[in-house]
Amino acid sequence: MTILVTGGAGFIGSNFVFHMLEHHPSDKIVCVDKLTYAGNLSTLRSVMENPAFRFVRADICDRTAICRLFEEEKPDIVVNFAAESHVDRSIEDPGIFLTTNILGTQVLMDACRKYGITRYHQVSTDEVYGDLPLDRPDLFFTEETPIHTSSPYSSSKAGADLLVLAYHRTYGLPVTISRCSNNYGPYHFPEKLIPLMIINALADKPLPVYGEGLNVRDWLYVEDHCRAIDLIIHEGRVGEVYNVGGHNEMRNIDIVKLICEKLGKPESLITHVADRKGHDMRYAIDPTKIHNELGWLPETKFADGIQKTIDWYLANRDWWEEIISGEYQSYYEKMYGERDPLPVG
Ligand code: NAD
Ligand code: TYD
Repeated sequence: MTILVTGGAGFIGSNFVFHMLEHHPSDKIVCVDKLTYAGNLSTLRSVMENPAFRFVRADICDRTAICRLFEEEKPDIVVNFAAESHVDRSIEDPGIFLTTNILGTQVLMDACRKYGITRYHQVSTDEVYGDLPLDRPDLFFTEETPIHTSSPYSSSKAGADLLVLAYHRTYGLPVTISRCSNNYGPYHFPEKLIPLMIINALADKPLPVYGEGLNVRDWLYVEDHCRAIDLIIHEGRVGEVYNVGGHNEMRNIDIVKLICEKLGKPESLITHVADRKGHDMRYAIDPTKIHNELGWLPETKFADGIQKTIDWYLANRDWWEEIISGEYQSYYEKMYGERDPLPVG
C-alpha cells in the first residue's frame, strides 16, 4: 500500500511519518511538502534513506505537480496534514490560509477523483467548533456541534471540511475527517505555546502570556493523535467525522507555570501581554465516538508527555536553534515587539 502524506515535514505530519514507517513497515510512505517556514527537512533526516520513504517538495495547490505525483506513485490513501496552521499568523495575513487550506484540499481531492484512491483523510481541528464558555465545564464538542469559527485559520479549516464532505456526497469520494484538540510533543514549531515557552524559558527571556492566561486548551500528546489517524484510515467509516481528544483541559497560565517549575526558572519571567484578537476561551473534545467505534484512547498522560517534550527540546537544541536563528527572528520581533505588556496586578 502507498500512503501519500502531505505536510509531512511539519510537526504532526512528521510524527505521523515516523509512526507509519514503524507500525506499517510494508507500506510505502510518500511525503509531499512545500517546505514553508514551518516545514523542516532536517526533521525527516532519520528516514530520508529509508527505501520505504520518499520525499517530494511540492505545493498542494500546484495541480500539475500533484497530478504528476499521483501518476508516479498511485497512492492508495492520502492523508492531508499540509496547512497554514498558526492562528496568530492568520490574523495578520488570512490570504495564504484560504489558498493552502481550502484550495490545496480541493486540488488533492480532484487528483484523488481522477486517479482513484481508497481513502482521502482530512486532518482537521477542534477549532472549527469555535469555543466554549469557561463557566460551563459540562459542555464538550461532539461531532454534531455546529461549525462556528472565530479566526481566519479555523474558518479556512472549516471551509475545507465542508468541501471534503461535499466531495463525498456529490462524487462519492471515500473520505474521513478527524478533528483533534491541541497537540504537543517533539518537532513542534516554536511559534506555538508550549515550545515557545520552553525555548524562551531556557534563554531566560520573557514568557508572553496573552491576556490573563485563563484560556483553556485540551492537550493531546502527538503520538496519540497519530495513532488515532492510523485507526481512522484503516477502520473508520467512510463519510464520517471523528473528534480526537484526551480530556486534558488546562489553562495557559498553568502550563507556563509548570514549564517554569520543570526547568527551574522563576515565574517572574511570565509577562502578560495584549490578548489575541477574537481569542477562543475554551476547547474541549468529547472523544466518545472514536472510543466506542474504534477503541481509541489516549496513552500518554500529560505529566509524562510534557516531561518527554521538555526532555526532547533539551536534547535537540540543534533542531530549534537552527529555526530560531532564521526568519523566526523577524517574526518574533513583529508579533511580540509590538504587543504591549499588560499592567501587573
Ligand atoms: P505545521 O505548521 O507544523 O506543519 C504544516 C506543514 O505543511 C509544514 O511542513 C509546511 O511546510 C506544510 N505546508 C504548508 N503549506 C503547504 C502547501 N501549500 N503545500 C504543501 N505543504 C505545505 O502544522 P501542524 O501543527 O503539524 O498541523 C498539521 C495539520 O494538523 C494541520 O492541517 C492543522 O490544521 C492540523 N491540526 C493541528 C493541531 C495542532 O495542535 N498543531 C491540532 C489539530 C489539527
Ligand atoms: P497556540 O499554541 O497558538 O494554539 P491555538 O491557538 O491553536 O490553540 O496557542 C495556545 C494557547 O496559548 C492560546 O490560547 C493562545 C496562547 N498563547 C499565549 O498565551 N502566548 C503565546 O505566545 C502563544 C503563541 C499562545
